[in-house]
Amino acid sequence: MANAPGQRRKLVVSRDLGPDTMSLLYAREDLEIVAWPEDRRCERSWLLEKIAGATGAIVMLSDKIDEEFFERAGPSLKVVSTTSVGFEQVDLHALYRRKVRLGYTPDILTDAVADASVMLALMAGRNAGEGVTLVKEGKWPNFHFAPFFFTGPQLSPTPLSPTRTAGFLGFGRIAQATLTRLTAFGLTHCIYTTNPASPPNTALEASLAARYNTGISSSLRSVRRVELDELARASDVLFVLAPGGESTHHVVNADFLRKMKKHAVLVNTSRGTLVDSDALAQALHEEWIWGAGLDVVEGEPHVGADHPLVQEPRYVQYIGWECITDHLRKLYFRRCVIIPHIGSATFETRLGMVNLAAGNALAGIDDEAMPAELDV
Ligand code: DGY
Repeated sequence: MANAPGQRRKLVVSRDLGPDTMSLLYAREDLEIVAWPEDRRCERSWLLEKIAGATGAIVMLSDKIDEEFFERAGPSLKVVSTTSVGFEQVDLHALYRRKVRLGYTPDILTDAVADASVMLALMAGRNAGEGVTLVKEGKWPNFHFAPFFFTGPQLSPTPLSPTRTAGFLGFGRIAQATLTRLTAFGLTHCIYTTNPASPPNTALEASLAARYNTGISSSLRSVRRVELDELARASDVLFVLAPGGESTHHVVNADFLRKMKKHAVLVNTSRGTLVDSDALAQALHEEWIWGAGLDVVEGEPHVGADHPLVQEPRYVQYIGWECITDHLRKLYFRRCVIIPHIGSATFETRLGMVNLAAGNALAGIDDEAMPAELDV
């Protein structure tokens, strides 16, 4: 719907996007920029009030963009631009029905999240969470260099464990960037699952195999798509990197976790809903797997100190892994390292994300091609 002559079109911004991006928006004199003024999550009542009659909105993952939002916005709304690669907070049916365009921020955060995925794999495998906690609490462990105290499974292969398999639940951009990093650690095999509805991507497999196997230092011997069952059974380190939503809800459940190797590490840097938290807590307590590194937990940000996963680590008697002989029974930790959904939080990436979100919104308002538009 066209605005009355002389009337400025409204762009609602649900979070301060930082001085550079905000001044870029304010420089558009033809637009009325209505920005949430506080340094905390935007209140829904504010968003619903301000969106009335707006042409565009720049929103966050935490803002629910549903039927009510679109109703309140009315027919003037042309574009919603989310400052995230995920868009599960947006009701795509409601958006599509109203022919509203959706901008998002793919690619730009790929490297930051891949970095964080490897960081969590190392932290969870190598007791970094408890190590930091003990030292901060003034409890530097007096273990007199007992050979097996604070040990964990090695990410890279060793003569005792000459192959290492990285598993990926979901094999998009972030998973592939994570694999690239893991080749520097000498990982020997890569297995992955994708959406069961999509056919195997043999071209992708061939190109990955060619890419990794021609590198001088690449140790990767195979890249294969597998069924979920094999993914669970064969991964030494498993990265959960699929989109959230109903089709992936609790895909990592008790049944899946029970099949995993005892020394396996699970990393989730996608969405908390993919992993059943109760089942994971049980898996850690009962030693079905070695540890978990999580950037996301179902129900976040409402994850309190009493959450079963936050309660980890705890001391347990660790009994047996094929390369640790029986007489080496020791007290070991169970590891669950949790960080608060900051996988993409580098200065560079977040600056890129807010700029891209602003660019998407302005392009949508101006009826131009967006730098990153979702094909709804
Ligand atoms: C996203 O963009 O979807 C991430 O989860 C948050 O940066």
